[in-house]
Amino acid sequence: MANPGNDPLDGTVALVTGASSGIGEQTAATLAELGADVVVAARRTDRLDALVERITGKGGRALAVAADVTDEAQAVAAVTQAVERFGRLDTVVANAGVMLLGQIEDADTTEWRRMIELNLLGAMYTAHAALPHLLTAAETGPRQVADLVVTSSVAGRQVRLGSGVYNASKHGIGAFAEALRMEVTQRQVRVSLIEPGAVETELASHNRPEVQERMKQRFAGMERLQADDIARTIAFVVTSPRHMAVNEVLIRPTRQQ
Ligand SMILES: NC(=O)c1ccc[n+]([C@@H]2O[C@H](COP(=O)([O-])OP(=O)(O)OC[C@H]3O[C@@H](n4cnc5c(N)ncnc54)[C@H](OP(=O)(O)O)[C@@H]3O)[C@@H](O)[C@H]2O)c1
Repeated sequence: MANPGNDPLDGTVALVTGASSGIGEQTAATLAELGADVVVAARRTDRLDALVERITGKGGRALAVAADVTDEAQAVAAVTQAVERFGRLDTVVANAGVMLLGQIEDADTTEWRRMIELNLLGAMYTAHAALPHLLTAAETGPRQVADLVVTSSVAGRQVRLGSGVYNASKHGIGAFAEALRMEVTQRQVRVSLIEPGAVETELASHNRPEVQERMKQRFAGMERLQADDIARTIAFVVTSPRHMAVNEVLIRPTRQQ
């Protein structure tokens, strides 16, 4: 919190999933800088604890919640803990995701389940559990608006060879987000889809070595986006005036074709 009492998200509470690294971690720190109390959720609690320290060290308030959001009960518990600790929920960033690339023929379908269960179902469970609280915040909160931000991907817009199931998961969450947007927008809950291109995070590191090698070659010499670029985009979305809903942002490194 840079300017206590006068920051744009003062008096609001945010929940960020996938906050132990990359885009989620930086987004949580940025929302805290803007005055929000922040609940950070993921599985690696040591990383979450370090983030909470980083936020509280700057005068903010934060809570770490261990949650595997592919388990609906844990997604619900993360939302419940946020509301129990800070009393409300104004902003949710459903960001946890995994990208496991490869051809469909001869695929290890365990990888498919990991992506669908996290990128699609995990984000849907989070949104569903948070929705009643977001509706209440929009109705009674200081800003008279609430936000669900979903981290999709350029892969949610553009299909690539070797990215079929990641594409399916991100196209799927895009469809869900648009349906939800239509359902709740007249009650002042904004649903926004963020669609990054290549961002320098841990995301690629979960792939098989040969896939990592192909990605390294594809992005060689390209200056990738930083997590902070996406965090600043999300900050813009959630601090926009209440009459303005940024529905979708596609953001690529300048040199990504
Ligand atoms: N980096 C890119 O180029 C890029 C581009 C477009 C879209 N995206 C999207 O951006 C989002 C964030 O990814 P990132 O790039 O920041 O990668 P990252 O650094 O790998 O972050 C992924 C986050 O998801 C969490 N996560 C993984 N499995 C989880 C589970 N079962 N339950 C709860 N949290 C879980 C991880 O934490 P734990 O392991 O501690 O649980 C981590 O905090 C993803 O949805 C990704 O698809 C990234």
